[in-house]
Amino acid sequence: MEKKITNTKQLKGELTVPGDKSISHRGVMFGAISSGITELNGFLNGADCISTMNCFRSMGIDISHENDHVIIHGKGLFGLTAPTRVLDVGNSGTTTRLISGILAGQKFQSELNGDESIQSRPMKRIMTPLKEMGASISSKKGNDCAPLFISPATNGLHGISYESPVASAQVKSCVLLAGLYADDKTSVTEPVLSRNHTELMLKGFGATVTSKGCEATILPNPNLQGQKIDIPGDISSAAYFIVAGAICKNADLFIKNVNTNPTRAGIISVAQAMGASLELLNKRIVSGEEVCDLHITSSELKGTIIEGDIIPTLIDEIPVIAVMAACAQGDTIIKDAAELKVKETNRIDTVIENLKAMGVSCEGTDDGMIIHGNSNEFGSEPLYGATIHTHLDHRIAMAFAIAGLCAQGETTLLQSECVNISYPSFYETLEKLTL
Ligand code: S3P
Repeated sequence: MEKKITNTKQLKGELTVPGDKSISHRGVMFGAISSGITELNGFLNGADCISTMNCFRSMGIDISHENDHVIIHGKGLFGLTAPTRVLDVGNSGTTTRLISGILAGQKFQSELNGDESIQSRPMKRIMTPLKEMGASISSKKGNDCAPLFISPATNGLHGISYESPVASAQVKSCVLLAGLYADDKTSVTEPVLSRNHTELMLKGFGATVTSKGCEATILPNPNLQGQKIDIPGDISSAAYFIVAGAICKNADLFIKNVNTNPTRAGIISVAQAMGASLELLNKRIVSGEEVCDLHITSSELKGTIIEGDIIPTLIDEIPVIAVMAACAQGDTIIKDAAELKVKETNRIDTVIENLKAMGVSCEGTDDGMIIHGNSNEFGSEPLYGATIHTHLDHRIAMAFAIAGLCAQGETTLLQSECVNISYPSFYETLEKLTL
């Protein structure tokens, strides 16, 4: 489906964004392997989280779901039953990698598969530590990608100390979840701290999890208990409106109830460093996570350097940060972000391809990109309207919808429906704010 976006003269209003995707996935998974009822309020009805829900339904978990309210009837650590068909993970890397940690500890065989994108995403990063723990996991095609086949570990799982070569919450969470089924404690050390929702939430469910710097440790065989969780708005979804508020003329947006967990909130410090008038209001803690309301107005932006430890805290926001950089004065350099190459698309390539189509001078590098801001010499706007190839990547579609708001002429998003992965109501919300 094509979507047309035109330049806007103003962007005003109050909004809430859908529930946090990472927390929604984990709520379903942890609820399924806990005893009793888990209740999620603010669940993200995106295709990725529905994939997680359906995988657990296929393993005998009763889940009721109405709007953003989900009830999971957990069956405890050992209550899952063998699925009768291949578990369909759709487009979701989080589902694939986290569920593999749980499946590695089961007494039944399972197979995971998903769409074309998921079948090219690297799974060796979870297969290596899981095999070290004694798991039996293989890539059916022998290319270290899905479909994955998981059988019961012949001698059970063993606790390990794993040094992860990548800062990835999906890898960390996979190993910690397998650690629930191990014979001893399991720890994971990352080069840089990634999002810590698994550690925070599993503790809430009753697991013994400790964190020290970039190391997280878990003890096996806890008695996990169902929880009631209020899921805050996803900062990765709020990011589109943070950037829209900063780059559009006559913008004044109030985004309520956003998760600002420091392991996720790098976009806030980057936007502020670039000169965005962005305020954080009503800071509070909800279900163990930092939450606040955000106020953003039209801003004069300047380029910046984004590198090092902040990268994992804004990895999913880089496409829309690149759009912000294109509208700023001067150069923005993004480094240490090679992980962009293994997301739903190679996001160095897909961001650069589409920025170039909009007339921006920019180049991809081995581990990031360089964007020469406000480089369009021909128009009064920083960008030209163009045809955007989303390549079915939800974050590319939304980042370039925002770019279209301050482009000269019309922007056409191809396969625009891919926003359903993480933000089904994105276009309606955008339209309301531009009225
Ligand atoms: C996620 C972790 C990140 C992120 C993804 C969600 C999670 O991936 O990009 O969208 O929920 O754990 P990596 O852990 O692979 O960096």
